[in-house]
Amino acid sequence: MFSLGAFNTFGIDAQANSFTEVTSVKELRLVLKEAVLPIWILGGGSNVLLTGDLHRCVVRNCIGGISVVRSYAHCVHVAVGGGVVWHDLVLWAVSNALGGIENMSLIPGTVGAAPIQNIGAYGAELKDVFLRLEAIELKTGKKCTFDKAACKFGYRDSIFKREAAGQFCITRVVLRLQKAPHSVRVGYGDIQKVLSDEGIDAPSIGDISRAVCHIRASKLPNPAELGNAGSFFKNPEISTAAFETLYETYSAMPHYPTTDGNVKVPAGWLIEQCGWKGRRVGNTGSHAKQALVLVNYGGATGAEIWQLSQDVIASVKAKFGIVLSAEVNRVGD
Ligand code: FAD
Ligand code: EPU
Repeated sequence: MFSLGAFNTFGIDAQANSFTEVTSVKELRLVLKEAVLPIWILGGGSNVLLTGDLHRCVVRNCIGGISVVRSYAHCVHVAVGGGVVWHDLVLWAVSNALGGIENMSLIPGTVGAAPIQNIGAYGAELKDVFLRLEAIELKTGKKCTFDKAACKFGYRDSIFKREAAGQFCITRVVLRLQKAPHSVRVGYGDIQKVLSDEGIDAPSIGDISRAVCHIRASKLPNPAELGNAGSFFKNPEISTAAFETLYETYSAMPHYPTTDGNVKVPAGWLIEQCGWKGRRVGNTGSHAKQALVLVNYGGATGAEIWQLSQDVIASVKAKFGIVLSAEVNRVGD
């Protein structure tokens, strides 16, 4: 058995029957051919909760490489190996004066996992720069290409969390990045405030990247110090009618309109209102600076964190009638 403790950011010490790392499609196909157990693909382990041992062959995607495959007057197409660390790609883009992903600085994990939940932060989502991906079908070893429409991206969602879940290993992602002059996005959260505090009024993509890193570091626990997987739940979307009813009682409830006429409510606020923020239950808890982040204070099992998440869901449902759904992927036999 192989301990996965060092391979997931919750730091859950689950065991896997076998573990292997692949650095090329050729190696991946060889593993698929020889595997006697079902395959499970792992990236940086920053969005998984292991609630038991894995009677599977765990394959860690370490396929590297960043290359410009097309160059046009205003943009380039960049092909990136699925095992490249997402933030390394952001740093590469910024240092090559290529814009589009700087608002997603410091999101943990790999490029191959980025399409799974259409990662997003600070007013940007992967789908904004996504062109296509290549994936190997685990059952057949066949290479498949998915364009943007085929990925069915949504908020923290794609085909890979639904009908294609667990069936592919994403080996290469192609993004369209912008050459200078860049259209920078400063409107989300505290980005503008951080830049103003530093006296920057015409920010470069590097300035945006640094501002986002600064904000994230001030709010989110560092998994190297405190086990977590970022937001445990998605921010729920409710109908305007349901929102208006709740707003009569909770007029301080933060809310944002969605493009399809619903209202998004921050799960962190709902969880905080239920008294969970900063509360510790055994070795688990809701983070003191961001209620949406569930943490492992050390030694918690995946099942204990899952139980905490179910208790949080029950209390938010009882108080607000809203059912939270997990963003984190639960895995384990
Ligand atoms: P893993 O956790 O290894 O895997 C996640 C899922 O994808 C699993 O089901 C796995 O089987 C599957 N998978 C992984 N790689 C592949 C592949 N190559 N092919 C097929 N399937 C694959 N997310 C955001 O969107 N925005 C944020 O701002 C954000 N902030 C975070 C902050 C912290 C502190 C942490 C710990 C997490 C945060 N996350 C955020 C969540 C996480 O970083 C992303 O979901 C990330 O894309 C996960 O990448 P990973 O390589 O770690 O995936
Ligand atoms: N809030 C509270 N209490 C809390 C936390 C949040 O009241 O404890 C309220 C505040 O009103 C705050 C609002 O919620 O203004 C939004 O909070 P924040 O800006 O921290 O963002 P979030 O909605 O909690 C989302 C993403 C993050 C992403 C940030 C920035 C989801 C589920 N989470 O968090 O993504 O980094 O916005 O764009 O959409 C992740 O997916 O793992 C993740 C960290």
